[in-house]
Amino acid sequence: MRTIEEVFRYKQHDSYETLEAWQRALLIYAWEALSTAYAPYSRFRVGAAVQLDHGQIVTGSNQENASSPAGLCAERTALAVAVMTYPNRIIKAIAIRASAENELLAQPVAPCGICRQALLEQEQRQNHAIQLLLQGAAGPIAEISSVKDMLPLYFWRNTGGRKY
Ligand code: THU
Repeated sequence: MRTIEEVFRYKQHDSYETLEAWQRALLIYAWEALSTAYAPYSRFRVGAAVQLDHGQIVTGSNQENASSPAGLCAERTALAVAVMTYPNRIIKAIAIRASAENELLAQPVAPCGICRQALLEQEQRQNHAIQLLLQGAAGPIAEISSVKDMLPLYFWRNTGGRKY
C-alpha cells in the first residue's frame, strides 16, 4: 500500500500589474461577456473568454432554463464556440469572471466539475495545457497552469487519436 499525494499549486495575482497584456485583455473580454448571460433564475452571471493560439478570442456566458438542468455554464458555451469556429486551433487559455446581483464578488470563481471535465477533454485532445484565469467582479486573479491541476484523478477515455 502506498499513499499518493497530489499537490495543487497556482499563482495568485493581487493586481493586474503582474499579468501579461494578453491575460489582462482576456479577463476584460470575459467581463464583457457577462452582459450576454441569461440568468433570471440564479441572478448569477458568468462570462468566459477563450484565447486561441492565433490570437482570436471567443466568449461565452451562462444560459439558464426554467428546467434547471438544461442550463448551460459559461465555460462550456465558450468552449463549444471555440471548437466549432476554430476546430484546428490550440486553446491557450480561458478567463472566467462572475457577477452576483446583490453581492460584490471579490474572490475568483472556479469552474464547476462538469466544466472541468469538458475543459480537460479539449486539453487532452489538443495535447497542450489550457491556462485558467479566474476572477470575480474584482479582487485577486488566480492563474492555473493546466485543467489537469484542477481535476486530480480525472476520468479520461483515450480515443487513440481517432477523429469522428
Ligand atoms: N455557472 C457557470 O456558468 N459556470 C460555472 O462553472 C458554475 C456555474 C452558472 C450556472 C448557473 O447559470 C449559475 O452559474 C448559477 O449556478
